[in-house]
Amino acid sequence: MTLTPVPRIAVIVVAAGSGTRLRGGAPKAFVGLDTRSILHRSLLGVFAGPLAQVVVVVPEGYEGDALTDARDAAGAAADLVTVVTGGATRQASVAAGVAALWADVDIVLVHDAARALTPPEVFERVVAAVEAGAAAVIPTVPVVDTIKRVDAAGRVVAGVDRSELAAAQTPQGFRRAVLEAALAEATADHTDDAAVVAAAGHTVLTVAGDAAAFKITTAPDLERARAIVQAASAVSPDPTPVARGPRVGIGTDVHGFGGAGTLWLAGLEWPGEQALSGHSDGDAVAHAIVDALLAAAGLGDIGTHFGTDRPEFAGAHAEAFLVHTLGLLREAGWSVGNVSVQVQANRPRFAARRVEAERALSAALGGAAVSVSATTTDGLGFTGRTEGVAAFATALVVPA
Ligand code: CTP
Ligand code: MG
Repeated sequence: MTLTPVPRIAVIVVAAGSGTRLRGGAPKAFVGLDTRSILHRSLLGVFAGPLAQVVVVVPEGYEGDALTDARDAAGAAADLVTVVTGGATRQASVAAGVAALWADVDIVLVHDAARALTPPEVFERVVAAVEAGAAAVIPTVPVVDTIKRVDAAGRVVAGVDRSELAAAQTPQGFRRAVLEAALAEATADHTDDAAVVAAAGHTVLTVAGDAAAFKITTAPDLERARAIVQAASAVSPDPTPVARGPRVGIGTDVHGFGGAGTLWLAGLEWPGEQALSGHSDGDAVAHAIVDALLAAAGLGDIGTHFGTDRPEFAGAHAEAFLVHTLGLLREAGWSVGNVSVQVQANRPRFAARRVEAERALSAALGGAAVSVSATTTDGLGFTGRTEGVAAFATALVVPA
């Protein structure tokens, strides 16, 4: 098992509202969007953004449902999820989320679950602005309608210059200490966190929001969100294009017998068996796994990273290849789900050492599950003539 690093960023997803304007038969975040809830869809966007503690704030009685949605959306990052019960107002719900922040967190984003289709790039822009030194940052979009100030009787009092206006969205980002202090000293109830922090005297900066981050408030908004999700899944085979989900990859390799020394295969030395030839030790099993992992992560193939121009891998064994590959995956934000590899060969006979091979390969991959199977080819082809070994691997990688 791989341990997720303790994040310095947290995203508080407020989902504790009742959804009185939507009237969806359940609290708004728990109303269905596609096959899952609005909350589930929001969390897919959150987990596709920067690595963060994710605090989900929900109405009393919905903690279990929220945990199910959050764990599913989090995938391998499930240990980053905290679920807490919200309060009577949005501001009280945010305060409940703040109380659950981990000690290492110093940047806090507050996000409305109701903005279910917010792209991960918006999260990244907000975090980048806080990291660059801002105390408070909100995403905004230009106001397109002409705006009028009206009085209680519904008469237009004045026009408002649209160029001075921007519509505020979420996630809104803050230095943790700024948000905590502002919430503690707030005397009024504000509709967003930027207003709480502005009331405490801080400057609030803006970054570009996104039209897709609209808030699901009324029934037509929900219809619009459903239509967008449906259209996206119709053109893309991936039903959750906003999220980086698990990915599979395939890799194969062949080496011929005729190398010097003893055989190395599947990370094991096989005394008395004929060696394979190759730039390294000819371990076709390890090389097939490397290709499968790199393909799954979209990082090219073995030639991209271990070409013959890399003298340090001349003669190297499986462990060196797999450890380096694992490092490349981690750098790109992936961890290994599992690996399955099949060897086609007359020699060596795997039966007695299959489990040993699985352990060696798994250890080199940081403990990820590796299955090894072996077969012969009924005397057919080069493997059937004992001229060499073929290996076929599939791998699953998941966002780290
Ligand atoms: N919210 C919350 N706790 C509250 C009120 C609101 O966590 N006591 C959250 C909502 O779940 C939503 C976000 O704040 O994700 C924005 O609020 P809004 O869109 O107004 O949602 P609701 O309050 O649920 O809807 P309504 O006002 O129509 O009842
Ligand atoms: Mg509300």
